[in-house]
Amino acid sequence: MKLSSFAYLATFGVKTILFRQKKPILGTVIVTDKCNLHCKHCSVNNITAIVHPYSQIKKEMEQLYNMGVRILFFCGGETFLWEDGDKTLRDLVIEAKQMGFMIVNVVTNGTYPLDLPEADLILLSLDGDKEKHNDIRGDTYDLIMHNIANATSDNICFYMAVNQINKNTVKNVCRTARDTKNVKAVSFNFHTPYPDTKELELTVEDKQRICDDIKEMMKEDCPVFNLKSAFKYIIHNTFPTPCHQCVVIEDRKISVCGRCIHEDGLCEKCGYFFVAEYTLLFRGNLKIIFEMLTTYLKYI
Ligand SMILES: C[S@@+](CC[C@H](N)C(=O)[O-])C[C@H]1O[C@@H](n2cnc3c(N)ncnc32)[C@H](O)[C@@H]1O
Ligand code: SF4
Ligand code: SF4
Repeated sequence: MKLSSFAYLATFGVKTILFRQKKPILGTVIVTDKCNLHCKHCSVNNITAIVHPYSQIKKEMEQLYNMGVRILFFCGGETFLWEDGDKTLRDLVIEAKQMGFMIVNVVTNGTYPLDLPEADLILLSLDGDKEKHNDIRGDTYDLIMHNIANATSDNICFYMAVNQINKNTVKNVCRTARDTKNVKAVSFNFHTPYPDTKELELTVEDKQRICDDIKEMMKEDCPVFNLKSAFKYIIHNTFPTPCHQCVVIEDRKISVCGRCIHEDGLCEKCGYFFVAEYTLLFRGNLKIIFEMLTTYLKYI
């Protein structure tokens, strides 16, 4: 990260903590909800299957930038399905950087060739060892590993949503992150139980054991892009929600924190680690501040 970006983000953090500001810094643009997969745990794919036009995505990026957002995610549906004329996802990333976003990340299922060297991180969903990943995501594990091996840059971070199906494979994913070329780290979330995927919800005991597994892997030098000090809040869902510093825009509609904010009672069961990490950070939790500085500087 550039020193000027670091200074900007640090100043934002200090102001937010001191003045209890609710301005956003992290924004997500949903480029489409169309997807080539139908994962067992996912409730947000192919609802409209509309690929939003370039002119609209550009306006949404500008809108987020004008609101103060400087960390941008592109998400879906499947982001690599996005195109408009000769514009591709890569053009969106390049344009976001030119617009002044300091960190630009893309979330993908990894089933398309990975050529996004301009992205700071490609968050690539890997949901377990081959057996459990394929159980959740269809027969895609080998294709994903092939695409990772042939990626044009080493900016890949595994993104694992842990649920009842894959809860015993967290160590495997940590070691795969450590040992695979082009992969920098792994970042975890717990399953957020939408009404149609309630059966995949983890118990407090499950979450405790998974966090113990992750800590053990950190000791084995596995590159985990999560904050240990947030685990106890995540296990018991005692972090504040929603995250006012995060916004999502989908088809011109802005939501604070996530699209899931519109689901009754879901925030109390939120499994997204970033919400715990950011809300605790902006409440001035010193351990989180210190760990976030060291972790972010290592991977971005
Ligand atoms: C909705 S997908 C969109 C991007 C891309 N299609 C992918 O799979 O990475 C973004 C991330 O959300 C995760 N996810 C989907 N439903 C979830 C849920 N109910 N709880 C936690 N994570 C979830 C997916 O596993 C994926 O890592
Ligand atoms: S690939 Fe992503 S968007 Fe598609 S179904 Fe799976 S989690 Fe949902
Ligand atoms: S469930 Fe609530 S707190 Fe969690 S990401 Fe969604 S909106 Fe934010």
